[in-house]
Amino acid sequence: MKIVQTLEDLREERSKMTGPVGLVPTMGFLHAGHISLVKQAVKECANVVVSIYVNPTQFSPTEDFASYPRDLDRDAALLKEAGATLVWAPTDAVMYPSGYQTYVNVEDVTKVLEGAMRPTHFRGVTTVVAKLFNAVQPDKAFFGQKDAQQVAVLSRMVKDLNFNLEMVVCPIVREKDGLALSSRNTYLDTAQRQAALVLSRALRKAREIFINGERESQKIRSEMEKIFTGEPAAKVQYISIADTQSLLEVEWIETQALVSMAVYIGKTRLIDNTILGKPDPALDKSSGLVL
Ligand code: PAF
Repeated sequence: MKIVQTLEDLREERSKMTGPVGLVPTMGFLHAGHISLVKQAVKECANVVVSIYVNPTQFSPTEDFASYPRDLDRDAALLKEAGATLVWAPTDAVMYPSGYQTYVNVEDVTKVLEGAMRPTHFRGVTTVVAKLFNAVQPDKAFFGQKDAQQVAVLSRMVKDLNFNLEMVVCPIVREKDGLALSSRNTYLDTAQRQAALVLSRALRKAREIFINGERESQKIRSEMEKIFTGEPAAKVQYISIADTQSLLEVEWIETQALVSMAVYIGKTRLIDNTILGKPDPALDKSSGLVL
C-alpha cells in the first residue's frame, strides 16, 4: 500500500491500476465504520483508493475543524491491514490552492435536516467529493448510511453532473450496545457515552411501532420524544421522518421512510438514523425484533 499526497503522484499511481477502482473518501481518524467501507470496496474492486482529508469547507467557523482528530500513521496501519491499495492524503494547498473559487451546490435536498442546521456544510462536501471523483476517477464510491443526507445529496450530484460511477451505500456500524460509530464519539466522557445510547433506543422504538403497524409519523415521533424525556443529558435538535430521497417530511409512511435525528450530548452533536420499511439488522437484532 502506497501513500501519496500530490495530484501528480495520485495520477501516476491511478494510471498503473488495472481493473475496477473503488474510492472510499474519509476525513481520517478511522474507526470500524470506515474499515467496513474499505472491506466492502476490497470485495468489489481490484484497486481500493482511500482518501484522507479533513475538508475545511464543510465545517462552519463555529465547528470543530481545528480540533477534529487526525492521526495519519494510525490510519495508514489500519488501511494496510484492511487491504487498501493506495492512500491519498492531499494537503490544503493541493485541494484549495490560493485563488480557489469553484464550488458545487446541490439545491433542494441540502436545505433540510443537517443542511438547515449547517447551511454551508453540504456545499463543502459536494465540492470536495466532486474534486476527489475527478482526481481518482473511480468506478465505485463507498459511503456510510450513517450520514444519510450526505448519501442523498451525493447521489443527486452523481446523477446531475453525470459522474460515471456507482454509489455504494454501506450499513451503519454500531457498538454492541447500539451506539453508532462516529469519530465524534471520542469527545464523550463515560457518563455521556452511556447517555448517548438514547439515540439508538429511540430508533429501536420507532422500528418496533412501525413493525407493529403504525404508519402515522406524528405518533412515531411522539413515542421517540418520550424516550428522550427520560434522558436529561440529551438535547434533541431534530427528529425527522422523511422521504428517503427528497428528505421532505412525510405525515404518513407508505412503504419506506428515513427516521433521522441530531442530538446534543453535552457539547457533542450526534446524528443517527434508520430506514423504516427496510431491514436494519444491527438495530433489530439487539432489540429482539424479528422482521
Ligand atoms: O463523510 C465524510 O467523512 C466526509 O463528509 C467526506 C465524504 C469524506 C467528505 O469530506
